Amino acid sequence: MRISIIGSGYVGLVTGACFAKLGNEVVCVDIDEGKVRKINNRTAPFYEKGLDDLLKEVNLRATTDIEEAIRSTDVTFICVGTPQGLMGEADLRHVDQACRDIGSVLKEKDNFHLVVVKSTVPPGTTEHRVRHILEEASKKKAYKDFGLAMNPEFLREGNAIEDFMNPDRIVIGVKDDKSKGILLELYKDFTCPKLIVSPTTAEMIKYASNAFLAIKISFINEIGNLCKALGIDVYEVAKGIGLDKRIGRHFLRAGIGFGGSCFPKDVKALINKARELFYHPIILNAALEVNETQPYKLVDLLEKKAGNLRGKDVTVLGLAFKPNTDDVREAPSIKIVNALLNKGAKVHVYDPKAMENFKRLFGDRIDYCSSAKEAVSKSKYVLIVTEWNEFKDKELYKGKYVFDGRRIEEAKELAEYYEGVCW
Ligand code: UGA
Repeated sequence: MRISIIGSGYVGLVTGACFAKLGNEVVCVDIDEGKVRKINNRTAPFYEKGLDDLLKEVNLRATTDIEEAIRSTDVTFICVGTPQGLMGEADLRHVDQACRDIGSVLKEKDNFHLVVVKSTVPPGTTEHRVRHILEEASKKKAYKDFGLAMNPEFLREGNAIEDFMNPDRIVIGVKDDKSKGILLELYKDFTCPKLIVSPTTAEMIKYASNAFLAIKISFINEIGNLCKALGIDVYEVAKGIGLDKRIGRHFLRAGIGFGGSCFPKDVKALINKARELFYHPIILNAALEVNETQPYKLVDLLEKKAGNLRGKDVTVLGLAFKPNTDDVREAPSIKIVNALLNKGAKVHVYDPKAMENFKRLFGDRIDYCSSAKEAVSKSKYVLIVTEWNEFKDKELYKGKYVFDGRRIEEAKELAEYYEGVCW
């Protein structure tokens, strides 16, 4: 199939590259010329495991010319960002703009074109807002003159290609048979369950999935906080409950909480949607409340041991919101480093991939080290904030006071003092 992808961020570019790998002809669109140039030079504009190699292998091009991209393809995926608005709502301005652009090309296009929303959007967006804008701009009817569908992604950053190629399920939100047929054909090589639902249901499945995972993490962190006070190891508790098939073992790693561009934003957007419906979502709010303060628990532990932090050297290992990404959006490291600076500590940091992105936030207020070894050599106190593999080297912690937000077992062995945030 000839596919255009609007928005060449994590979701768009991975989706595009994977569809190309499956034998489709793909063009990725982005307004950022620098990004487009990089993609055409076969390098990803951000770090994602395996993506550079995949780009070198597949039939994919990038352009800033959205009109040409739509004209030369039959299916368009909208993969633009839906950042957090001022009131916590999903800011849909990029989706709106993509729809206006697509609609104006569809107006002049004769053959059937399918528009698929992949961006994470609140329930109702595709069937009402997206449809309305596309129809206005194209002067055509959705589900008849052009196809419209919602097909959420469940890609984890750092694992996105693997997740795309081996999904647990594919959710296809459609109303018309032609759109359904095209998407089933596109995904024909996948053997996982394919769920055919309405676009609005598909949107809710995406939000509910992320909300459930976020709640699961906040739940185990709350249990972890209690375990800490009771002298119990929450990881043993997590294993004990996770072996119950109804609960499951995944997403029960207690620590300094969830970050990233998805969980915090999507839970807030769902809360905001609930408010519009005059519903107060107690559990969703609680998940955010637990997560809000969890990073500070690491600083509390440090202060309890080290006393006043003014003028003291403190090393922070890991800045990315999780390993295998350079993404620092909503990363617990931001809160932790801010708190350390506010308390007057001298902060030394190291992350294998996220240093540049962190520098944009903190400039020269902290010391950026070129290796974990260098960073730990600067202080007696070491905070583990992201569980990168290279931090599993017990030698790093020899004689140090280690405060662990992510449960790196090796850290305990040679440390002079070791304490975990929830255990
Ligand atoms: C998440 C979902 O896992 C994807 O399915 C979804 O497609 C994506 O959001 C999205 O909406 O685009 P992602 O944010 O990339 O993916 O990362 P996760 O691996 O889910 O981790 C999120 C955060 O939770 C990280 O900060 C991680 O450290 C934290 N986490 C995860 C825990 O604190 N404990 C756990 O047990 C698991």
